[in-house]
Amino acid sequence: MLPFIAQQLIHWHGRFGRHNLPWQDTRDPYAIWLSEIMLQQTQVTTAIPYYTRFLREFPTIRSLAEAPLDAVLALWSGLGYYSRARNLHLAARHIMQHRRGQFPSTRTEIEQLPGIGRSTAAAIAVFAFGKREAILDGNVKRVFARYFGIDGFLDETKTVSLLWKKAEAALPADCRLGNIETYTQALMDLGATVCIRNSPRCHVCPLQQQCIAYRNRCVDQLPVPKQRKPLPQKETVMLLLLQQQKLLLQKRAPKGIWGALWCPPEIETGIDPVHYCRNNLKLTVQPPIELPVLNHQFTHFKLRIYPQLLHVISDTVEPHPQLTWISPVDALEQGIPAPVRKLLKQTFAKHYG
Ligand code: ADE
Repeated sequence: MLPFIAQQLIHWHGRFGRHNLPWQDTRDPYAIWLSEIMLQQTQVTTAIPYYTRFLREFPTIRSLAEAPLDAVLALWSGLGYYSRARNLHLAARHIMQHRRGQFPSTRTEIEQLPGIGRSTAAAIAVFAFGKREAILDGNVKRVFARYFGIDGFLDETKTVSLLWKKAEAALPADCRLGNIETYTQALMDLGATVCIRNSPRCHVCPLQQQCIAYRNRCVDQLPVPKQRKPLPQKETVMLLLLQQQKLLLQKRAPKGIWGALWCPPEIETGIDPVHYCRNNLKLTVQPPIELPVLNHQFTHFKLRIYPQLLHVISDTVEPHPQLTWISPVDALEQGIPAPVRKLLKQTFAKHYG
């Protein structure tokens, strides 16, 4: 017997679910793992070209493990949340060194890999191995909070534990005939296309009849959002140092939000850039030209970037593995954060043709 919710979703998916997504025609755990990591914070339509390019470049766990991190980050450039790429690379090396290249096949083992939480591990176990596991990502939490009328704060452990219990109870009992895969994909698709955050499309929802939030006319009030504090505002000055049409980029330390990505040198606001260049980079520069301010929002803070263009007059920069002079065109091929990409495109539009 299928729980009502599973039965409805599986039936609905046949006609209205998303089909032919590039990661749906494979059982290769590596390809499925990659797709689930990309889809954690990225919409399907944005992820597809990145996914295809990544798999073309690194078709196997071995090829990923053997690649330099720089090459992996270059393929991730623009997708954001770069710790995903660093963890993917780390996990591929771990699998080669400690598991003879074999991707683990149970949810609990998959969850041990860096960068994989319970829900992602469950999704991989379902799609690659047909395991009966419950998922609970952000969209699915919303579906269940509404369907089961759960009105606790989503950032409270007891609410999340209750949602996991519901997610487990809703699973199809019988996982032959691809039920679990279809059910899981249907749940994801419903959350992404029908049971959406704003203006949910309840009139086309297969779960409408049994949905507690719908019956109680409180769909728009569930789930109860996390109590958000205003995000702190940070500031930085980015120095676009130009010499003979080449730009100085610096590789960041491996940790942190842009860990191991290439960026223009940064200084704190209030520091004199000309002095900084002379004392720290051994570069004599012309007075700075202020460029338009850029604002970027991260999950936990906002960043205001004050870019300054500086023409180098004379240079004694020592060769250094973390520093490189690169043409603005070639810079776009490197692992650089999205706001830096935007800044380079704006500033060097004429170089890009
Ligand atoms: N979001 C997370 N995983 C997904 C998948 N496999 N298909 C579509 N959207 C997803």
